[in-house]
Amino acid sequence: MNKNVFHKLSYGVYVVSTWDNGRPTGCTANSAMQITSSPATIAVSINHDNYTNKCIKETGRFAISILAEDTPALIIGTFGFRSGKDSDKFSEVKYSVEDNMPVVTDSCGYIACEVIDSMETATHTVFLGEVKGAELFGDREAMTYSYYHKVIKGKSPKNAPTYLPEAE
Ligand SMILES: Cc1cc2nc3c(=O)[nH]c(=O)nc-3n(C[C@H](O)[C@H](O)[C@H](O)COP(=O)(O)O)c2cc1C
Repeated sequence: MNKNVFHKLSYGVYVVSTWDNGRPTGCTANSAMQITSSPATIAVSINHDNYTNKCIKETGRFAISILAEDTPALIIGTFGFRSGKDSDKFSEVKYSVEDNMPVVTDSCGYIACEVIDSMETATHTVFLGEVKGAELFGDREAMTYSYYHKVIKGKSPKNAPTYLPEAE
């Protein structure tokens, strides 16, 4: 099996956010997709070891902030290489509360969801969310996962579903 072909799948780059007992938290994720338009439904895949996973399970809610090509890479790093378990990521990143969810202001916009179902895989939980609110923040170009790798020269940590060890 040539797992390098997985790199030909297309994604965006998002911050999946939720609440931790009233404190905003979340993580970077590429694995978000629209499942259907009516009722609007979104799926995200979040690693069992990510603090965000536990918080989504507790609140039953998540939002995705759709990052833009010119969203600072620091935001991707803050949310993607640290854990909300021992750091307060949103204290360093400008956010607003929209449809009762914390969302990254420096983004294309957000989609706020209520979890309606979930599925466990060996490593990740796939959360299915019914959309409760969504808005655009201006007219910005969304960052693709390919842009993140090729232009920003970003890396993917082990907890990203798309992680491949360098040797493969
Ligand atoms: C570009 C990028 C994409 C990522 N995609 C995902 C993803 O789709 N699902 C996931 O569980 N983790 C993904 N991660 C890893 C998490 O963001 C990372 O493990 C984070 O530190 C978890 O934070 P938390 O413990 O606060 O939830 C990604 C990271 C990066 C940088």
